Amino acid sequence: MITQQAPLTLALPKGRMAEKCATFLAASGLSVPTTDDDRLLIIENESGTVRHIMTKPTDVPTLVEYGAADMGICGLDTLRESGGNVFEPLLLPYEYCRLSVCGVANQPHPQLRYMSQPRVATKYTNLASQFFQERGINAEIIKLHGSVELGPLVGLADLIVDIVSTGTTLRVNGLVEIRTIMESQAVVIANPASYRLKSTLIQDALDRMRQALKTIDAEKAAVSRGKL
Ligand code: PRP
Repeated sequence: MITQQAPLTLALPKGRMAEKCATFLAASGLSVPTTDDDRLLIIENESGTVRHIMTKPTDVPTLVEYGAADMGICGLDTLRESGGNVFEPLLLPYEYCRLSVCGVANQPHPQLRYMSQPRVATKYTNLASQFFQERGINAEIIKLHGSVELGPLVGLADLIVDIVSTGTTLRVNGLVEIRTIMESQAVVIANPASYRLKSTLIQDALDRMRQALKTIDAEKAAVSRGKL
């Protein structure tokens, strides 16, 4: 048997998704990034078989596409925005949200196709441009890096394209969803070359993840049976 070269390198998102990723890796019996120093960017497990790269969520697809990481976990929204050429072997049951076109509440929203050159604030410039172009709408896309909901509130934009999860941010800022562009959830991605060259390591990690998903499903089913 050929022993494939360790370590297996995983790009993981810092911030909101980090804890859920760590919980899922632990449930899969895989190495979890642990450090006393939250500014450390590369964390290797004790045996040196797994290396975690902690990065901004939007950079996970880039690191995996270019082979800096063999695998990664990110949101489908981030992956589609990046357009990265990676494999997507497994969807994960968390970080559910949708990417939507939103506008100010209690205002008549004309059919989007009748809007002439709407200004649209977003972090997702590629997906937003594609959405409006496909509908023949000549939108002006304005890039914001966060708190996108500010756009219509300060007169910067007519609409926003942003992530809606619980809907709380929209509600408290007096905005409403007008159209859903895509549904999103967490996804495991892999570099196509690593997928071949480190197939044993990657398939073993994926098998463990699939097994954890089965256990999670079984536990959910047991809970819902208990409620009936
Ligand atoms: C995201 C998104 C919305 C919010 C939606 O923002 O951009 O603002 O979450 O979540 P909700 O529907 O549950 O309220 P994030 O927290 O990533 O911060 P940001 O706006 O600075 O990007």
